Amino acid sequence: MVGAYRGRVIVAQTETEAKLRIGVAGTGKMGAAIARRLMSLGHDLIVWNRTPERAAPLVSAGATLATTPFQLASFSDTVITILTDALAIDTAYRERDGLLSGDVSGKLFIEMSTVRPETERALAASVAEKGAVLVECPVGGTVGPAKDGKLFGFVGGEPADIARARPLLDQLCRRVEHVGPIGAGASMKLAINLPLLVFWQAFGEALTLCRALGLDAARIVDIFSDTSGGPNVLKPRGPALTAALKGEDVGPITVDIDSMRKDLRTMIEEAESLGAALPVTASALQCYDEASLDGLGKGDITAIPVRWMNKPENT
Ligand SMILES: NC(=O)c1ccc[n+]([C@@H]2O[C@H](COP(=O)([O-])OP(=O)(O)OC[C@H]3O[C@@H](n4cnc5c(N)ncnc54)[C@H](OP(=O)(O)O)[C@@H]3O)[C@@H](O)[C@H]2O)c1
Repeated sequence: MVGAYRGRVIVAQTETEAKLRIGVAGTGKMGAAIARRLMSLGHDLIVWNRTPERAAPLVSAGATLATTPFQLASFSDTVITILTDALAIDTAYRERDGLLSGDVSGKLFIEMSTVRPETERALAASVAEKGAVLVECPVGGTVGPAKDGKLFGFVGGEPADIARARPLLDQLCRRVEHVGPIGAGASMKLAINLPLLVFWQAFGEALTLCRALGLDAARIVDIFSDTSGGPNVLKPRGPALTAALKGEDVGPITVDIDSMRKDLRTMIEEAESLGAALPVTASALQCYDEASLDGLGKGDITAIPVRWMNKPENT
């Protein structure tokens, strides 16, 4: 017999009735979107979140709520984690009642957080000690692509483990790139985010040069987007950026500034461990830190260029 926790009631279930279950630990912006994607494909979802209220909309949509990571791992064949940082991973996996606190032998863990490679490598060792398997797959793309199964997966791990994870990864990602052993995915993800995060500050600085032209915000974004001055992100995020430049509502926040400060800090720590310096990244982090001190930390990333453009000394 196995048990399943539905809402507040544990119900019995025979082995033969048991279906393949996917657990999602961490139902923040990305975890919730990934869970919704998987539910839309008919998977049975069990979810855990440190703050259970945040998982309530998923439970209303049919997911089962686990009260501990242990419970989530017990009732899942595959566990996906997408959490803020290394501390959050430590809490979810290694604490009492954590994901690895029970018998998880043979289970597959897919770790999707943006963290340093060494965090993924240490986690993979802990998972292997329990007889389970870890594949890392940090992702490019935000909430919209996650809901649509259009993420970009930077995968690290053993080929056989990745082959096992692949059908699920293909349901979440438009492109899955196996870039090396565990830790390689984290390195690649940090590298991809570096120019992206520097861009948001650089765009604010660029605006100080052209704002006096008085062009419409949508036109400026469109011109950047169609020239070498703009990166790919302007295509999906152009409308939100235009709204931000006009001082209008940007809609639901998909990427917040504090989370990206974490990414910038992580890049700098990783570079230091490699003996490299990242002067432009360090300078960008300082600007992001100032934005957070201004009270914008939980705000959308598009506030970075807008804040710079609107600084009194830049107007
Ligand atoms: N947003 C994006 O567009 C995006 C894109 C690609 C990758 N990522 C990466 O994906 C990860 C999640 O991002 P997100 O935007 O979904 O962030 P988020 O909305 O802030 O969610 C963070 C999740 O981590 C949990 N968490 C944080 N600290 C914890 C702790 N100490 N113990 C247990 N759980 C903890 C949160 O639980 P609570 O709800 O209890 O706080 C929440 O479930 C991050 O590594 C981020 O860099 C984000």
